[in-house]
Amino acid sequence: MKFKDKFVLITGASSGIGRQASIDFALNGASKIILVSRTEHKLIALQKQIELTISSEVRKVENLEVIPYACDVSKKDDVLVMARDLLKKLGRIDILVNNAGFGTFGAVKSQEIDDIEAIMRTNYFGMVYCTKAFLNSMVSRHSGHIVNVASVAASFGVAGMAGYCASKYAILGFSESLHHELRSTGVNVTVVSPIGVKTNFFDHESFRENKPNYTGFMLDPKSVSRAIISASCSPRIEIVVPNYIRAAIWMKCTFPYIVNPIVGTLFRRQLNK
Ligand SMILES: NC(=O)c1ccc[n+]([C@@H]2O[C@H](COP(=O)([O-])OP(=O)(O)OC[C@H]3O[C@@H](n4cnc5c(N)ncnc54)[C@H](OP(=O)(O)O)[C@@H]3O)[C@@H](O)[C@H]2O)c1
Repeated sequence: MKFKDKFVLITGASSGIGRQASIDFALNGASKIILVSRTEHKLIALQKQIELTISSEVRKVENLEVIPYACDVSKKDDVLVMARDLLKKLGRIDILVNNAGFGTFGAVKSQEIDDIEAIMRTNYFGMVYCTKAFLNSMVSRHSGHIVNVASVAASFGVAGMAGYCASKYAILGFSESLHHELRSTGVNVTVVSPIGVKTNFFDHESFRENKPNYTGFMLDPKSVSRAIISASCSPRIEIVVPNYIRAAIWMKCTFPYIVNPIVGTLFRRQLNK
């Protein structure tokens, strides 16, 4: 019952990592869970599943409330309306998990600018809008944790995913700065950066023709959800999943002239396949 009386909002809750994290926060005792994505019927189905799962648990959460809230996080005004509604109804959000995101595959030379902008608007600005919408209320209560789901793509630019990598580098940079700004306020920011995860992420049509073969290294959403749960009460800036990938990031930062050509060759091969 780690999250007893905690109010948790998760974006991108309808699928994959966010869906699993929503279930796991409920199993860990959160009292209110707000499920956010664009697809309302999936959120309602998940609400029912969480309520069913929890009602069959021995350690039942008193007054658990699961609230589906359809919102496109790439739309600033919609996020502001959502935050106003929720803060009026609930009074606070204790843990904000900015997880909504998507990626596309393709060379920059053949991608539309609009497509690259769309990735940035959801992955990066969606996180900024949600953070801004709830941050002041967290700071005024001297309590709160923001968990931003980035990726190992926040540390390695790879061929075929420039727009996506840029959005994840941006999330890491923003979060690192905010983490330092918030020192001693009672509010914290932690980034969770997984490698590839078995979710619907790769169902985007751009992966279809030239699907990268990342499957050998793919994580289960449960591993990432566990990291999100740990992150939401951790003093750390970034949690990399699995943690041994930190060694690869260190190698890249320390010996870029060795690591970059290897990463370049591997991913260019995927792109040119
Ligand atoms: N899968 C991987 O290999 C991997 C690796 C590292 C990091 N990540 C990151 O993990 C996060 C979750 O991805 P996933 O793997 O779980 O993929 P997923 O199964 O495709 O889930 C993505 C979620 O984001 C939501 N979403 C997308 N655009 C949205 C928008 N504009 N507004 C609100 N919600 C939106 C989707 O819901 P709706 O369609 O209903 O809106 C869905 O719930 C993403 O940030 C992704 O970049 C994934």
